[in-house]
Amino acid sequence: MINDKNSFSRRNFIAKTTLAVGAFGAGSIFSSQALGSSAPENPKPNEGKVAIVTGSSRGIGEAIAKRLAADGFKITINCVVNRDLAENVARDIKAAGGEATWLQSDVRKPEAVRELFDVTEEAFGGVDVVVNNAGVMKLASFSEMTDEDFNYVMDTNLKGGFNVLREAARRVRDGGRIISTSSSITLLKLPTYGPYAASKAALQIYSSTLAKEVGGRGISVNALSPGVVNTTLFTDGKTEEQIEGFAKRTPHGRIGEPEDIAAVVSALCSPDGWWVNGQTVFANGGLV
Ligand SMILES: NC(=O)c1ccc[n+]([C@@H]2O[C@H](COP(=O)([O-])OP(=O)(O)OC[C@H]3O[C@@H](n4cnc5c(N)ncnc54)[C@H](OP(=O)(O)O)[C@@H]3O)[C@@H](O)[C@H]2O)c1
Repeated sequence: MINDKNSFSRRNFIAKTTLAVGAFGAGSIFSSQALGSSAPENPKPNEGKVAIVTGSSRGIGEAIAKRLAADGFKITINCVVNRDLAENVARDIKAAGGEATWLQSDVRKPEAVRELFDVTEEAFGGVDVVVNNAGVMKLASFSEMTDEDFNYVMDTNLKGGFNVLREAARRVRDGGRIISTSSSITLLKLPTYGPYAASKAALQIYSSTLAKEVGGRGISVNALSPGVVNTTLFTDGKTEEQIEGFAKRTPHGRIGEPEDIAAVVSALCSPDGWWVNGQTVFANGGLV
């Protein structure tokens, strides 16, 4: 009886997957990958696919954009103020033989997020991957946190993150990926990180919920939680000693680099990453 049930659900799963693969075509994000595979049939299976990376003018987003471009994705770069940096990232990608466009678009504003997707669809014909990465951090104890800083963090991370995921849910093509940059601070729970950590925890909940809403279309949705990463978001306002303290707490003996995180995004976007779905992936070198 148990075996019968198992073979029924397995047949059912294969039938559904075949439908989704058929919709996306050969060489797609997960063609022939539904039950895993050891050797990719195509060294660049994402060639021609399209990715939006929010907050990609610098830091982790820049590294993700460049890595996905090297993997074959056409990329839309995004910033909120640093137009010159965003343009430079797009230029670097093109100089390396990739395709990229960029847009200044504030994720706090729903209409700006819609425009980000419009511009991408116009430039590249659709959207297969969204990396919901734009984020800000303000640190203060509960007794010292200002309303202004609290609202800035929540408007960008909680509301902005939602704005991007809502549009992604509407527009990402079947078989795609949606990844949100959360944070391992949700496990570390350090003093002064309260509101920031809460906003990042929301991205984990958003992702596991959304995975259940779009799963029927073969789209995998995850949160990715870096530890400490060498960008100004982390280093600003910290002493060398404090940074070294985090490096010593990490079993690998250093803090993360943006490229460490980009490599995990690349893996999640690869055909073999499809089965990771509805999860929070902690990529922190063992810090926590
Ligand atoms: N660094 C870490 O240790 C660490 C650890 C865990 C998680 N994270 C998360 O990883 C993500 C990237 O962090 P990072 O360290 O790379 O930060 P970063 O170097 O400060 O870069 C932040 C990026 O987000 C963009 N951005 C900020 N507000 C925006 C808005 N309203 N609309 C659109 N773009 C906006 C910035 O654009 P402009 O250049 O125009 O300002 C920039 O491209 C964040 O979500 C952060 O919470 C970072």
